[in-house]
Amino acid sequence: MARPRVAITRPALPGEAIRRLADVAVVREWESRRPPTRAELTRLVSGIEGLICMSSERIDEEFLSTCPTLRVVSNLGVGFDNFDIGALTRRRIPAGNTPGVLAETTADLAWALILAAARRVTEAERVLRAGGWKSMDFDFMLGTDVFGATLGIFGYGAIGKAVARRAQGFGMRVNHYSRTKSSDGFSTWTPLSTLLAMSDIVTVHVPLTPETRQAMGQREFEQMKRSAIFVNTSRGAVVDQTALVRALRSGVIRAAGLDVYEQEPLSPEDPLLELHNCVLLPHIGSASASTRSRMVDLAVSNVVAGLKGETLPHCVNPDVYS
Ligand code: 8YV
Repeated sequence: MARPRVAITRPALPGEAIRRLADVAVVREWESRRPPTRAELTRLVSGIEGLICMSSERIDEEFLSTCPTLRVVSNLGVGFDNFDIGALTRRRIPAGNTPGVLAETTADLAWALILAAARRVTEAERVLRAGGWKSMDFDFMLGTDVFGATLGIFGYGAIGKAVARRAQGFGMRVNHYSRTKSSDGFSTWTPLSTLLAMSDIVTVHVPLTPETRQAMGQREFEQMKRSAIFVNTSRGAVVDQTALVRALRSGVIRAAGLDVYEQEPLSPEDPLLELHNCVLLPHIGSASASTRSRMVDLAVSNVVAGLKGETLPHCVNPDVYS
């Protein structure tokens, strides 16, 4: 019997899992470092049964109609806002993601942004490299203490919880807002408006859904302290980026640390790039070598299970099985 065909939208993924996939399927990799355009993606997936993709590929009705042979898809990532779940489920195509393995790595990066924004780490380095460190001034690059501060976590899933655990070492008061109104030994559930008003640092860890889209806008920034630090490692569209730029420019909040944007990659013309009080990273939350290998492993397990007609180990549309 002919082996099924699986397309992967990035070349040379790390880890051993691709070999496991190649044992059961004919693997067709996108060969360029640059992600495929929509037209290139359509050619890549022609006649395939399985697909491994990234959050930059939109898997919607239009895409699915160009790929009628598709039987299973998996993201390399925990977020799945690039999937049209209704369209996939109607076509009875199970869709997978890679939860669990990237929570600690992404929490580490959220902390890198918290510390960098609060203590002006990248701004200070830019000044030094540009020859701007002229003398030992007492008020040079004054920042905000992280130790002992109040941390507000918006979204309390695996990543939000991993961020809260790390806050203990900094002697912080930790509160979170999530749909489930429960507290644990690391953080106390708090209504969102109270959380925004009382936090020195607000960090976002919600998935992008219709409810969370643009959930952080002008009103929310105005509820925060003028000294607040705002951090986002979830999805750019959770934030009204225009309102954030305005808040950072006019001193409504003190600083921000961002790993994600409304449009990715960030345009070289983006006004965020002009702000000295904003630390900007290129969506690298899960980008450690070992975590990326584990993500590939889970995505391969999802696709192999789907090709065999088995339930995906991490399925985001379990209704396909009912
Ligand atoms: C991925 C992510 O790098 O897991 C997620 O949701 O945002 C990142 O870990 C990104 O999705 C690319 O596929």
